[in-house]
Amino acid sequence: MKNVLLILLCTCLTTALAQPPGITYTYEYPYKNGIPFHRYKERRTALKQTHSPKSIILSLSADIRNRQNDVDHPYRQHSNFLYLTGMPYAKSALIIAPGGIEHEGAISHEFFFVQNRNTEKEAWEGALMGIDEAAMLEIERVLPYADLRSFIMKNLKGIDTLFITGLPTASIPIPLAEKAMSIEKIIKDDIQSAYPELYVKTTLPSLNALREIKDGDELRLMKKAIEISMEGHTLAMKECYPGITEYELEALMEFAFKKGGAEDIGYSSIMGSGYNACILHYTSNRKATLHGDLVLADCGAEYQNYTADITRTFPVSGTFTADQKTLYNFVLEAADSAISEAKVGNPFRAPHNAARKVLLKRMMELGLIEKEEQLKWYFMHGTSHYLGLDVHDPGTMGTLKHGSIITVEPGIYIPPGSPCDKRWWNIGIRIEDDILITQDGPVNLSATLPRSTSAIEALMKEKNK
Ligand code: GLY
Ligand code: MN
Ligand code: MN
Repeated sequence: MKNVLLILLCTCLTTALAQPPGITYTYEYPYKNGIPFHRYKERRTALKQTHSPKSIILSLSADIRNRQNDVDHPYRQHSNFLYLTGMPYAKSALIIAPGGIEHEGAISHEFFFVQNRNTEKEAWEGALMGIDEAAMLEIERVLPYADLRSFIMKNLKGIDTLFITGLPTASIPIPLAEKAMSIEKIIKDDIQSAYPELYVKTTLPSLNALREIKDGDELRLMKKAIEISMEGHTLAMKECYPGITEYELEALMEFAFKKGGAEDIGYSSIMGSGYNACILHYTSNRKATLHGDLVLADCGAEYQNYTADITRTFPVSGTFTADQKTLYNFVLEAADSAISEAKVGNPFRAPHNAARKVLLKRMMELGLIEKEEQLKWYFMHGTSHYLGLDVHDPGTMGTLKHGSIITVEPGIYIPPGSPCDKRWWNIGIRIEDDILITQDGPVNLSATLPRSTSAIEALMKEKNK
């Protein structure tokens, strides 16, 4: 009987759904109170103004990644495409033509390509944005996605540079063959043979510069992602006890993220206890915690595609040992010193240099290192990166600017076998906060999540018994 049911279910899953006539699926844009659509237009205009009329910019949606048969990995749009269009779905593309392109009797500077809607498909996937609905994005012209390749090939005449973003995963439909071809292959096979003089560039420095500075709506969404993330960190710290597994702590963290309205995590949650806290991007999260261990939790919620990036390090038992506290306070001092250097006009490296200076001094005083070059044994990464739609967001890496958000995340990691007294082994500490750069000085957006050893211990005492 079970087998019969299973066969029936499989048949249902593989046969196209016969639908009674008249069914329609209503399309709803998924984000409420997000970025207003006119803002995307302003971004496209700003980008257009930094490019020559002899260039064309092609921004592609991320491809759907197949997991197995008709099951796909969760979809995440390419951040550049999101930034320029607000379009959350695959199989769409944007062309910006600073010099204008004449199409069907009118000259336009922006063309958006999107799939036609398909009721049979929508029975499986729900309504997606089609040609009519795409009008909401306020892009000058909307055309069928199937026309993209021929449109590109036709309109590269007289163009000297084609900028493409969306690589390496993006593909373009080949309508007659009913398949898609990778954009890299199209460049090699078609574009470069038809237009041998054309430069194809896959970086857009001026787009990176635009994304570096967050506007008021982006800041609002970032603050929400950070607020939800702090709720997750608070819950994990409060509910921690010796013996709880790393994956249970991860589950508590991500439960709070989803409960707070986050659609996703911004990156795989890092929940390392004991020696795992010394592995910078540890994500297997399988070990049971032990009394005396530290837990390093580097976790950020993604809200309307904007992500937080926060790390806290806390003792499984609720109380830091004296040695843990010593090293923790070094990292905290380094973090505070780095944050104070996150000022408009300072070089991007200024916070890192400040953090290094503190850690070098303190680690030498303690005798854990003897020479400057040895600091990298225990502090082997940079202190800051930009933060936004991506956890490692793009930016100019020039001087720090009003309106950008960076992380400050110094750490000390002493894996077993390190050339120091064993008492320091298995201690891994990182403190990571999200810092808004302003004319009036740095603003720590994650400051209300306990950072000092005493505040963390006090929070952990609040746990539900
Ligand atoms: N969560 C990754 C990082 O801190 O850069
Ligand atoms: Mn980070
Ligand atoms: Mn992080």
